[in-house]
Amino acid sequence: MKKTLLYNGSDDGSIASAANLLRCGGLVVFPTETVYGLGANAYDGKAVGGVFDAKGRPHDNPLIVHVAEPEDAESFAYTNELYYKLARAFMPGPLTLILKKRSIIPDEVTAGGGTVGVRCPSHPTAHRFIELAGVPVAAPSANLSGRPSPTSFAHCVEDMYGRVDAIIDGGECGVGLESTVALIDGDDSVTILRPGAVTAEALSCVASTVKEAYELKDGERPMSPGMKYKHYAPRAPLYLLDGERDCVIDFVRECMRREECLFICFDEDAAELSDISGRLISLGGKDDLAAHAKKLFAALRAADKYGEAHMLESIYTYAPDAGGGLLPAISNRLLRAADHTIVKVTKRDGH
Ligand code: TXA
Ligand code: MG
Repeated sequence: MKKTLLYNGSDDGSIASAANLLRCGGLVVFPTETVYGLGANAYDGKAVGGVFDAKGRPHDNPLIVHVAEPEDAESFAYTNELYYKLARAFMPGPLTLILKKRSIIPDEVTAGGGTVGVRCPSHPTAHRFIELAGVPVAAPSANLSGRPSPTSFAHCVEDMYGRVDAIIDGGECGVGLESTVALIDGDDSVTILRPGAVTAEALSCVASTVKEAYELKDGERPMSPGMKYKHYAPRAPLYLLDGERDCVIDFVRECMRREECLFICFDEDAAELSDISGRLISLGGKDDLAAHAKKLFAALRAADKYGEAHMLESIYTYAPDAGGGLLPAISNRLLRAADHTIVKVTKRDGH
């Protein structure tokens, strides 16, 4: 077990100490605006190997590299004009761009592949940490592999205490879902490999062609290795309920009578179901997509916590709607957490 130092992300001296640890080969968990990252010096293959060990991450799943300024990518990736156009529009911010890599990046970062993801976070602590480290920072999300990504300091302590050299406390992450991952595959074209807060609509204001390649059809090979792994899963099975709101509520009430289950719901539902409030986890107001994104992973972790004290059999939530904005990102995480299990509910299903 490693000795894990805990640092205050609002204190410049603490950030400097953590940055120094990272530069010298240590593993440091740091906050970003999306989720917390588990960082290592991207030029140090051995340190990067330690990231995979600390997370229990499969070795064929590459890490993205974090920079303080978009132009810092020049030292380890081949940029183009589109990269800078996208960087001007969306960096710093929740966007990762995949570029061809230079040889300075060790194979451990890219899982032997020829491309590398570049991300420039907007969280002030992340920015300062990377700047002070003076090296690019390779970092996946700071969860144990397969668990929901961490969006608070407490989540990071839960998963990483004793496995890393330091954890920087930056409070709660503002976005709550991981960055949009987009492959630059032409002078004017990108392919979204993972949806996030930088939407397809937003990207299409800068690139003339925006393709989407994140919902795999049977037998399709993923363009992003991370897409083939079950992810974000709470320990009890999650079911996505597809139906009118009153049918969903009836269905959940009935389930609550006969099994140990939880309902991840909205504030409006919580007001109506106050008699079973101990078995509800709210994502915020029904139409507040930013709140749903921000609270989703914490809700899945809260369900796991509840399951430690109860024989939790099932977790229910609404099947996500189709649409733009944050919906594709929320929907992608929910579908994966539920292993694509959607249950149609109609009036008669509540038995
Ligand atoms: O918001 C985020 O992106 C967070 C914070 C810490 O920056 N990081 C994060 O990293 O979510 P990770 O490793 O959990 O997810 C990165 C995803 C994985 O699905 C991985 O397979 C994909 O990006 N990826 C990384 N490098 C890639 C590459 N060169 N080509 C294709 N996909 C890549
Ligand atoms: Mg991850």
